[in-house]
Amino acid sequence: MEGKDKIKILILDDEKQFTEELSGFFVDSNFDSFEANTAAEGKKILTSHAIDLLILDVRLPGVNGLDILKEVKNDYPFMEVIIISAHGDMDTVIKAMRLGAFDYLRKPFRFLDIQIAIERTQKYLQMQRRLKQMEEKNSLISKSLEEKIDRQFIGVSPKILEVFDQALAAANYPDANVLITGESGTGKENIARIIHYSGIRKDHIFGAVNSSAITETLLESEFFGHKKGSFTGAITDKMGFFELCNGGTLFLDEIADMPLNLQAKILRASEEKVVTRVGDTAQIRTNFRIISATNHDINKRVEKKKFRLDLLHRLNTLHIHIPALRERPEDIKPLLTHFVDVFATKFNKPSLRVSTEVFDLLMKYDFPGNVRELKNLAERAIILCKGNTLGANDFPVAPKIKTPPADEVDSVNLKNNEVRLIQKALKKANYNQQAAANALGIHRDALSRKIKKYAIATLDPGC
Ligand SMILES: Nc1ncnc2c1ncn2[C@@H]1O[C@H](COP(=O)(O)OP(=O)(O)OP(=O)(O)O)[C@@H](O)[C@H]1O
Ligand SMILES: [Mg+2]
Repeated sequence: MEGKDKIKILILDDEKQFTEELSGFFVDSNFDSFEANTAAEGKKILTSHAIDLLILDVRLPGVNGLDILKEVKNDYPFMEVIIISAHGDMDTVIKAMRLGAFDYLRKPFRFLDIQIAIERTQKYLQMQRRLKQMEEKNSLISKSLEEKIDRQFIGVSPKILEVFDQALAAANYPDANVLITGESGTGKENIARIIHYSGIRKDHIFGAVNSSAITETLLESEFFGHKKGSFTGAITDKMGFFELCNGGTLFLDEIADMPLNLQAKILRASEEKVVTRVGDTAQIRTNFRIISATNHDINKRVEKKKFRLDLLHRLNTLHIHIPALRERPEDIKPLLTHFVDVFATKFNKPSLRVSTEVFDLLMKYDFPGNVRELKNLAERAIILCKGNTLGANDFPVAPKIKTPPADEVDSVNLKNNEVRLIQKALKKANYNQQAAANALGIHRDALSRKIKKYAIATLDPGC
């Protein structure tokens, strides 16, 4: 049996001779044993070692053994307890079993009796461990399956076709880390899944982790796992993300938000492909690929010393940038058609059609929320629409906020640009002329002259 699977036993009995003898009996066996002759000594050992089994004498001087049993079952629910009772004290035995003791032994007993009791407990503990590991794997697998269903990627624009090509190339290099950038809702997680499921890692786990959603104190143990008893709340051994994604892909979403102290540890793990659980010394080999994503300018984070340059280099062996939807308007129509199809089926409205005015309207919109926003708009329209045709009224978008592409801006006409800049500065400063002049870097009098000259409105047009 591997060292980390050895059962740890604590013997708590006030008779020193007894604890020594029993402990001696375990020396050559497959158990690690600890001795305590008072409740205080026992508690100290329980907090510093991940004890699996407690052999407890319920007749300790000055304390009620049943109270100790209640306390340990509460603090360490996965630890098993065998109680030792005096001959004829059936009442205590019944109470102890009701409080969750696994077995009991009546003094005097033969070492053989205790060996049998421990082996029984050991089998039970091993089963529990295996079950726990399976549960952890299962929850990730079912998440992977769910995600698999939602991984159709629609697009016809040259820009998105290039993203596709890059994703397929990344799938063919299963050991290269990939960094995906792009605004929120552009499909970064979708592309990450496509890379995973198109390559040889597809039969292993795709584990998606959003590090900004996990508290900093928990992050290390979530990534590296922990050993039972290594900190308050660590009641069982736990695999970390790196171990769970052995053979598969670890998707690190919002990578730019990763705390600095963890960045160093992630860098080491990704270089060495070896991890050590919190509170343990054993080194565990694991073969994962990291795909990370961010909608922040990660180079700026590096400049501000919020992100390690060496980790960035490690993560972006391959870099895929997904352009915003407004930069590839050709994709709006096929995407909308796809989402209408999906939601019309889901909400049982099979004969729904989309009028051309909807496409015209959406082509003029700038989609700050990208594909996610388009998807939500389609879902909402289908839920609320009464007839069989989706019209412009079913899409509450304001086309005026579409920002003109750079080449549409009147870039050479000085006057027009000056007027536009002044209007923008006034609006941003809530029509406070001093603040607008400061923002423009000119004197307030100069601003007043220009406002008069160009007859620019100085009040909020919405008032
Ligand atoms: N090209 C596409 N085809 C089909 N669905 C898409 C496409 N791009 C994005 N989606 C859908 O849009 C939604 C948002 O995509 P995703 O979660 O991958 O975006 P993201 O870039 O990771 O966003 P965030 O930065 O907010 O996490 C998802 O429901 C996804 O299925
Ligand atoms: Mg995402």
